[in-house]
Amino acid sequence: MTKRYAIILAAGQGTRMKSKLYKVLHPVLGKPMVQHVLEQVSEVGLEDIVTVVGFGSDKVKEHLGDRTKFVLQEEQLGTGHAVIQAEELMKDKKGTTIVVCGDTPLITKETFQQLFDHHENEGSKATILTAKAPNPFGYGRVIRNAQNEVERIVEHKDATQEELVVDEINTGTYCFDNEALFEALKEVSNDNAQGEYYLPDVIEILKNKSEKVSAFLSSNFDETLGVNDRVALAQAEKTMKLRINEQHMRNGVSIIDPENTYIQPDVVIEPDVVIYPGTIISGKSIIHEHAIIGPNSEVSNCEVGAHTVIKQSVATDSKIGERVNIGPFAHIRPDANIGDEAKVGNFVEIKKAELGKGSKVSHLSYIGDAKVGSNVNIGCGTITVNYDGKNKYLTTIEDDSFIGCNSNLIAPVTIGKGSYVAAGSTITKNVPEDSLSVARARQTNKEGYASRLKKRLEDK
Ligand code: UD1
Ligand code: CA
Repeated sequence: MTKRYAIILAAGQGTRMKSKLYKVLHPVLGKPMVQHVLEQVSEVGLEDIVTVVGFGSDKVKEHLGDRTKFVLQEEQLGTGHAVIQAEELMKDKKGTTIVVCGDTPLITKETFQQLFDHHENEGSKATILTAKAPNPFGYGRVIRNAQNEVERIVEHKDATQEELVVDEINTGTYCFDNEALFEALKEVSNDNAQGEYYLPDVIEILKNKSEKVSAFLSSNFDETLGVNDRVALAQAEKTMKLRINEQHMRNGVSIIDPENTYIQPDVVIEPDVVIYPGTIISGKSIIHEHAIIGPNSEVSNCEVGAHTVIKQSVATDSKIGERVNIGPFAHIRPDANIGDEAKVGNFVEIKKAELGKGSKVSHLSYIGDAKVGSNVNIGCGTITVNYDGKNKYLTTIEDDSFIGCNSNLIAPVTIGKGSYVAAGSTITKNVPEDSLSVARARQTNKEGYASRLKKRLEDK
């Protein structure tokens, strides 16, 4: 089988984005564009991947890591010049090289695969992935001859009025015979409207050498969108969102309003989950069957157990068990571990805390740096006082205890198994198991005092 290689072009600053962030790092559904490209193209079985990066693009390297080699293009003199930077690493290789742009994040592995297959079956030296664009503005146009063969690509800025009418565009993705590519690149000049070395010029150069050049027309323009500005970025986001949502729906997930549901690509969702509008599920979240998420909830890097309900809440970097009830308006901050059948109600914040099976924090509480056993009831307005301005301390609440409303538990402190803390207590010392702790001022009632006081004030 023919060996396959990829070159990813990611050195452009992306001036049209008007951003300090490198264009290819702008995220689409939370993942940098160039990472989408790398992950999809990697699926076709490649011997080697080389990514062309610009000066100061350490962040691009960080994101892509060791999944690709890197070469530096010090000055951005055009896409042809960018590919030449990979010459040292690539020139002796025999096989097919796909060149892809880091700013076309929607092209799928299936399309890359079809392009390779078409190119290799046709025995072409170059095959362009093309598409019919409803509005071809800005794209390179594919110019065909009277026999309908591809002749060359003309950039928008270099095109004549006649050429601008052509709606078949260059998607910026091509398969090349590797050796033919680097031979032809030697002949590319920068004599054009932008003074750049254009990779697409390789097509005409090969054609003039009577080499076979073909086009593979993608059936789906949406997939080949090139993101040059923030308007296109929003379009990409929308297309990707609907694509991912559709896949989940086909897998048995109910999404009430797919237009208003944002699920990042690496999220796993089991069948019979229901997602209400305004929900964002991100990172490496896993949502188990029959969970109900939303409306208006954000779940990031969480595992959510089966039959759990999360309403109008935010949960990050945490594990939430089965049949748990969260919200409305709860905040689950990193490193929470919420046990099965627990309840976290409205205006409750949980941070770096374990909540055992069946325990309840139903209203208006802060539970941070805590280890709460099972079957504990935490009354409204309870606070684990975990921070002295410098250090954080642990609160331990053992199984079956009951914390009365509006209690302060000043950490480090332990409430023993099965104990009661009276409402309004400020607990500074450990409470042994099976105790009642009352830590509040005693109540005194002065009977008849109110009317005596009123009379005194009136007499003044
Ligand atoms: C390019 C194509 C155009 C095609 C369109 C598809 C050229 C000359 N034009 O235009 O025919 O229709 O893509 O989206 O190739 N890059 C570098 N180094 C450079 C210049 C660019 O690495 O010196 C990278 C960019 O980071 C980007 C990609 O190459 O990922 C494409 O560059 P861009 O400037 O966006 O090209 P377009 O004008 O969109
Ligand atoms: Ca582009």
